[in-house]
Amino acid sequence: MEITLRILQLIFKCIYVVVYSILNTFLKRKGPPTIPPIRNQLITFPLVDVIKLMRQRKLKSQDLVKAYIERIKEVEPHINAVVQDRFESALEDAKRADGLIAKTTDSNLPALFNRYTLLGIPFTVKESCGLKGMPFRVGSRQRAHMICSENGEVVSNVIAAGGIPLLVSITPEYCFSMETNPATQKSCLNVYDSRRTAGGSSGGEGALNGAGASLFGIGSDIGGSIRIPSLFNGVFGHKPTGGVVSVAGHFPYSGEENGKQYFQGGPITRFGRDLGLLMQVMAGKNAQKLDLLTPVVTKDVKIFYSMGFDGLNGLLHKSTEQDIQFSILLALKFLKNHGCKIELASMKMFKDSMEISIAGLLMLKEFPYLIQSENPNKVRQHLLELCKSLIGKSEYTKEAIIFDLFRIANGFMPAANVKKYKREIQILKNKFTKMLGNDSVLLFPTLPMPALHHNTSALALWNIDYTMIFNIIGLPCTHIPMGLNKDGLPVGFQVIAAPYKDRLCIQIAAELEAAFSGWTVPTPHELEPLDDSIRF
Ligand SMILES: *[C@@H]1O[C@H](CO)[C@@H](O)[C@H](O)[C@H]1NC(C)=O
Ligand SMILES: *[C@@H]1O[C@H](CO)[C@@H](O)[C@H](O)[C@H]1NC(C)=O
Repeated sequence: MEITLRILQLIFKCIYVVVYSILNTFLKRKGPPTIPPIRNQLITFPLVDVIKLMRQRKLKSQDLVKAYIERIKEVEPHINAVVQDRFESALEDAKRADGLIAKTTDSNLPALFNRYTLLGIPFTVKESCGLKGMPFRVGSRQRAHMICSENGEVVSNVIAAGGIPLLVSITPEYCFSMETNPATQKSCLNVYDSRRTAGGSSGGEGALNGAGASLFGIGSDIGGSIRIPSLFNGVFGHKPTGGVVSVAGHFPYSGEENGKQYFQGGPITRFGRDLGLLMQVMAGKNAQKLDLLTPVVTKDVKIFYSMGFDGLNGLLHKSTEQDIQFSILLALKFLKNHGCKIELASMKMFKDSMEISIAGLLMLKEFPYLIQSENPNKVRQHLLELCKSLIGKSEYTKEAIIFDLFRIANGFMPAANVKKYKREIQILKNKFTKMLGNDSVLLFPTLPMPALHHNTSALALWNIDYTMIFNIIGLPCTHIPMGLNKDGLPVGFQVIAAPYKDRLCIQIAAELEAAFSGWTVPTPHELEPLDDSIRF
C-alpha cells in the first residue's frame, strides 16, 4: 500500500462525505424525470425480437430507423448526448436494407440474415470509437475540426454485420473522466436526474440508452467507461475479456500489447438478453474464443459476492451505499432459490487494488497525454492549468488535466514501487482466475455510489479501482441494473468472470433481467397503437 496515494484517497473520501451531506441536506428532492414518455411501441422491443420480426418480413428497417430518429430528437434537449447525427444517410441505408430484403426470396432469406446478423438495425456510436466521415473531437478544443477518416475496428464489425449508425455521441475530453463534461459542448445530463452526470466516459451512450433513444450503443472501457455510465443511467453494459473486442482506430489509443488487453469496446443496452448477440458481432473473429452459443445452466454457476473491498483498503474507499448493497442481496436471494451455490468472497488479494490499477495505466507508453509540452516541470505546469480550468480560463477540462497529472506524477508513487505493483498484476490475475475457475462469477459493486452530481467526479475518482482493476487483470464484467433507489436513481452491480467466460456474466444478466426490472423506464410509457402498415 502506498502511503501518499492512500492519504490523498482518504482526504478526498472525507471531502466527498462532507460535500454530499451538504448537497443532500440543501438540495430539494428531485422532481420526476423530464424525459418524455415513449409512445412508439417499436422502441420497446429488444434487438432479439426486432430481428425476428424483420426475418418474418413483418417490420421494415425504415420504420425502425424513423422511430429511433424521432425518439432521439425528442430526448436530446433533455440529455445533450449527441455530437452529430447522420439521420438522412441512415434513412437511405435503411431503404437499401429493405430493398435487399424485398428482393430476396423466402428460401434465401435465412442465408441473407446469417450473413448480415444486424441487417437494417439502427445503433449509436461513442464518438471516440471512430465513425468514418463524422466528427472526431472527443471533447477537446484542440481537436475541434477533426473528422474521422476510418471506422474503428469494433464499429466496422457492427457495420459489416449490416448495422446502421445514427449518430456519434458525446464523451469527456480525451475520455479522461468519469463524467461527460467536454470542452466542446454542454455537459451530458443524467436521464433520471438532470442535476447529475450521465457518467463517463461513454456518457452519451449511457444517456441515450437510458432514455430509450438507442437500440444499442457501442462504448469503450479502459477503467469503467462502459460500466459507470451504465450504472448511472440504469442500463446493461459489458466490458469483454481483455483482447477480445479491439478498439483499434479509437482516440485515444494505445496499440501496445497491454493497451490491447486493458482497453475494450463493448455494448451498452437496455436489454440484457441482447448482450450475447451483440458480443458475437462486436468480437468479430474473436467471438469463437468466447463460445457464446454454448448454453449456460444458471443453477450450475457458483456465485461469489462482496459488498466492496475489505480490510484497510475497504475503509479508505467510500463505503458502498445501502441501496447498492441491497440490490446485490436481492440478486443473491433469487440466485440461491434458483439452485446456485452462494459464497462470500474474500477480497484480501485485492489489498493493493488502487496501486495495481494505476501501475497498469502507467504501463501504457503510447497512450497520448492531454497537454503536450517540453516543460521540465510538468507537474507544476499541470497544477497551474488545473487552477486556470477551475476559474474557466483553460482550454482544457479539469477532469482531463487531473487524469494527465496522475500519469506524469507516476500515480504519486516512487518508481521502484510502481515496478513492484506492475509485477503484481499477473499474480493477482492468476490467483483470482483460479478462485473463479470455469464456473463461478463474482457479484461486486460497479461503484459504491449511484449517479454523481455534476462537477463532483474528482472527489469520487478515488473509487475508480472498483472497475479499473478488472481491466488491468483482463476479466469480463457486465453491469446489471437493478431498479431505482429511494432517490429515484438507478442502482445495480457488476458481475465478473474468469477470462473468456463472458457468457457466464451475460447469462446472469439475462436471468436477473427476467426476474427483476432490468431497465426501469424513467417516465412511464404512453404507448400508441402501431401504424396499420406495421401489424404483427
Ligand atoms: C476449465 O476448462 C478448461 C477447458 O475448457 C480445462 O482445460 C480446465 O481444466 C478447466 N479448469 C477447471 C478448474 O475445471
Ligand atoms: C461544470 O463545471 C464547468 C466548469 O468547470 C462548467 O462549464 C459546467 O457548466 C459545469 N457543469 C454543469 C452541468 O453544471
